[in-house]
This record gives sequence, C-alpha cells and structure tokens, in this order.
Amino acid sequence: MKGLFITFEGGEGAGKSTQIQYLAEALRAQGYETVLTREPGGSPGAEAVRHVLLSGAAEEYGVRMEAILFAAARSDHVEELIRPAVDAGKIVLCDRFMDSSRVYQGVTGNLEPDFVRSLERVAVNDMIPDLTIILDLPADVGLARARKRSGAGGEQPDRYEKESLSVHEKRREAYLDLARQEPERCKVVDGVQPADAIAREVEKLAFGLLKENAEDEPVETGARLI
Ligand code: TYD
Repeated sequence: MKGLFITFEGGEGAGKSTQIQYLAEALRAQGYETVLTREPGGSPGAEAVRHVLLSGAAEEYGVRMEAILFAAARSDHVEELIRPAVDAGKIVLCDRFMDSSRVYQGVTGNLEPDFVRSLERVAVNDMIPDLTIILDLPADVGLARARKRSGAGGEQPDRYEKESLSVHEKRREAYLDLARQEPERCKVVDGVQPADAIAREVEKLAFGLLKENAEDEPVETGARLI
C-alpha cells in the first residue's frame, strides 16, 4: 500500500510543531508507521542549506537566490526522504513544504509567479501533498506566541520573526487564498482554539483521508487467482 504525505503550513507561532507531534502520536497509536520531518531541512543535504537560509547568510544575494536554495533543499528532501517513505507505505508529516515558498518567496517576496512555479515543479517532482493543513490565526497572535517562544529559549528571533505585522498579515491572506484555490488539498483549521481542540480537528482530517484511501484500495476477491 502506498503511504500518505501530509504537510502543515501557517505563519509564525501558528502551532505547527505542536500539532504535527500530536498527529504523529495519534497515528502511531493506531499502528501507522509515521515519519516526522520539516523544511527547510529533513535530509542531510537540505539541513546544510537550512543553515545558510535561516542564518540570514543568503539574504544579501536576493530573493531569487533564496527561492532557488529553498527549492534545492526541497528537491533533496523529496528524493532522499519523502518519496522513499511514502513508497514504502509510511505516513510522512512535514512541517512546511511548497506552500511556504509560494507564500514567503512568491507573495511577500514579490517573486514572479512563473519563477516560483517552475522551481516548484522541479523540486516537488509530482510529490504533491495528499493533504495540507493550514493553521490559521491572526498575525499579531502568532507573532506574540513566536516571540514568547524565542524569548523563553533565550535565542534570537529568526529573521522571519523580525518582520512587520503587515507582512505577516499578507502571508495569512495568501494562505487563505491558497485554500480557496485548492480546497480539496488545503484545509484551514482555526489556530486560535485550544491545542487539544485543534488536534481533534487535525486528526479528523487525517483519519478521514486514511479511510478514503483504504476504500480506494483494490479488494482481493480471489477470483482472479483461478
Ligand atoms: P523555522 O525556524 O523552521 O520556523 P517555523 O517554526 O516558522 O517553521 O523557520 C523556517 C522559516 O523559513 C519560516 O519563517 C518560513 C521560511 N520558509 C520560506 O521562506 N520558504 C520556504 O519554502 C520554507 C520551507 C520556509
């Protein structure tokens, strides 16, 4: 049986990493082999590029260069980790994927849509998520959470967390637009709710998809064996 590929998207402080953990636990409890990963990163090659991107070292080379680096990391991640796992029947849960490039580099980075789509085609190479969960919440709420988190860890907020509120609002709208454009794949979940209520909604979506998949599997009748 082919596995499943589920991605989590949203702005800063949306709770993606908490929710992805909850879903992994719920799936494993039901006996599903589940792989948890994230972008940028997730494979050794992509992790090397992650460092360049998140340290801000690539920033001075401009948004096209950044977009290409995100795509390079994604291509490695897809071919080295995601596709082999899905082909082996596992469920892959990924914290951010191609929609982050559409939103961060495409919409708020002002890159031409054709350029973003071309990179996406090459990097994703048909490994389109079966389900994308968009955790939606007002930018100010998300930013306050993200600041608290980086403050609590004693780390500097990353470069994306230093941007203005209007940029974060624009990203929120861009994610909601994506969900309107691809309603089958992209499901919006209200990220303001308490974490356990979000987790229940996310589980419902994931288990719903698993059920659909199981119903699509060919049933072995035995008749063909004769
Ligand atoms: P990370 O520290 O992993 O934060 P988060 O918890 O928000 O996921 O940082 C990833 C950052 O990289 C995040 O701000 C979004 C950005 N990003 C892009 O701009 N384009 C992309 O394609 C991806 C995958 C991430």
